Amino acid sequence: MMRKRILVGSVAAAMLIAAGAFIVPPGSDANAQAGKRLPQLDTGDASAQPWKRYAGWPVRDASKFNTLANLASPPPPTAARKLTGPITGDSTKGAVLVADRNRGGSCLACHTMGPAGGTALPGNVGPDLSEIGNAGREDKWLFNYVFDARVYNPETVMPPWGGHGIFNEAEINDIVAFLKTLKSPAPYKTELDNPDKRPAPVEKRDNLDPIENPGMWAVDKAQELWKQKSAIGFSCNTCHSDPKESFKTWAASMPKWEPRLNKVLGVEEFVTRHTKATTGDTWLMETDENRVMSVYLHYLANGTPIKIDTTSAESKAAIERGKALSARKVGELNFACTDCHGKSANKWIRGQWLGEPKGQADHFPTWRTSLQAIWDIRQRFQWCQVNIRADELAPDAKEYGDLELYLVSQNEGQKLSVPGIRH
Ligand code: HEC
Ligand code: HEC
Ligand code: HEC
Repeated sequence: MMRKRILVGSVAAAMLIAAGAFIVPPGSDANAQAGKRLPQLDTGDASAQPWKRYAGWPVRDASKFNTLANLASPPPPTAARKLTGPITGDSTKGAVLVADRNRGGSCLACHTMGPAGGTALPGNVGPDLSEIGNAGREDKWLFNYVFDARVYNPETVMPPWGGHGIFNEAEINDIVAFLKTLKSPAPYKTELDNPDKRPAPVEKRDNLDPIENPGMWAVDKAQELWKQKSAIGFSCNTCHSDPKESFKTWAASMPKWEPRLNKVLGVEEFVTRHTKATTGDTWLMETDENRVMSVYLHYLANGTPIKIDTTSAESKAAIERGKALSARKVGELNFACTDCHGKSANKWIRGQWLGEPKGQADHFPTWRTSLQAIWDIRQRFQWCQVNIRADELAPDAKEYGDLELYLVSQNEGQKLSVPGIRH
């Protein structure tokens, strides 16, 4: 399907058809040829399908749990579980379990728990539990709070450790036995150990300085790509010889509702679909060429305040869907975006500071220092899913489009500054 619409072979630039103000490649659709609409491949996928998770990302089957596209998680319990007797778990085993990062990231990601975890940096998404042993909590309450806190607090941020089978009942007994031993304030060695005192990180690096931000190479690389001719002899430059002028605000108006695709279209998917329909090149989302070109198109609009269409009925509906998706609990750990970037924003999840949505969309694609790689926003969405044990979607999924539009709508007025630089 995809190929048929593009003339393959050695069609020279001489075959360019000038139609009205548009120069349209020979393989493009009839309306684009007639100068009526922008050349864009409206069929087929814009990313590799079936989507394969990145090598090096954790592999596990989370298909039993909700994703942004599918509801599958077991329903929350309707009543607290009864205990057969007092809890007689092994607190030594419990101390190990609460710090075990392979079991859902460990309790210390969100709680200080007295001496537990040794040198691990605790987070403060949840309350300090260092003295929970003095709080007079009943065994049944503690057991159920850890097993599945939704029986007491339907809005809880805590993962349903028992409800989703991350810990079994015997293990939860051990954890409760350990909680009951916690009776004195946390022995912080330095102020930095204390998440309530740890200063918020400030990004001081100049992201537009190529010496500080290696991601700036993408801007150079894109300028080469701009002129690189495809197999049919076309390049971006064939039709856009002055991108600095033509696209100096465009990326700040993206993403947008695209009626031709019946979904929200972001810069990266546009690049795939427009490139295919013009130069004939296949620059699928999250390939190097696509990333580099997305960096460049954003870079050209740097300094422009983000201003997207939030008024049309279709955009409004997409933003509402995105808002609902950002509050949807997904994955084995049962987190919604809003659990971390809303309710827990400006807190520490272990050693990581949780940002709020405003300020999250103005610097993508961004250079990740820790990974030595450029991530576009859809890859960031994917990781925020995989990391909480949810199956991610393909980058061109319509759900990500809705989510992106909603996120960007919360960043309106922020000035683009791409490529960003982040840890
Ligand atoms: C993602 C963050 C997060 C993780 C991880 C987490 N908790 Fe919590 N926990 C919270 C939050 C937030 C609360 C506060 C109330 C709520 O949201 O339900 C809480 C409350 C609690 C409470 C009730 C405290 C009280 O006195 O009201 C207990 C007990 C508890 N957590 C134990 C644990 C244990 C044990 C683990 C690990 C198995 C754990 N938590 C992991 C976020 C977390
Ligand atoms: C054969 C001609 C042709 C080629 C080649 C071409 N484009 Fe375009 N492009 C167009 C036309 C026609 C439009 C719509 C009118 C306009 O904005 O100039 C357009 C529009 C755009 C827009 C604005 C889209 C919008 O929503 O208004 C961007 C960005 C863009 N092109 C980028 C590129 C990039 C990047 C390449 C190279 C991968 C490229 N173009 C190659 C013809 C072309
Ligand atoms: C368990 C907590 C958690 C959940 C749930 C979560 N994230 Fe994140 N997210 C993080 C952490 C940690 C970071 C890296 C630190 C930071 O930049 O906030 C991050 C970073 C981001 C960033 C980049 C921020 C920046 O300034 O570069 C975006 C965008 C983002 N998340 C979006 C989402 C979306 C959308 C969802 C829901 C699909 C989501 N996150 C769910 C923890 C979470």
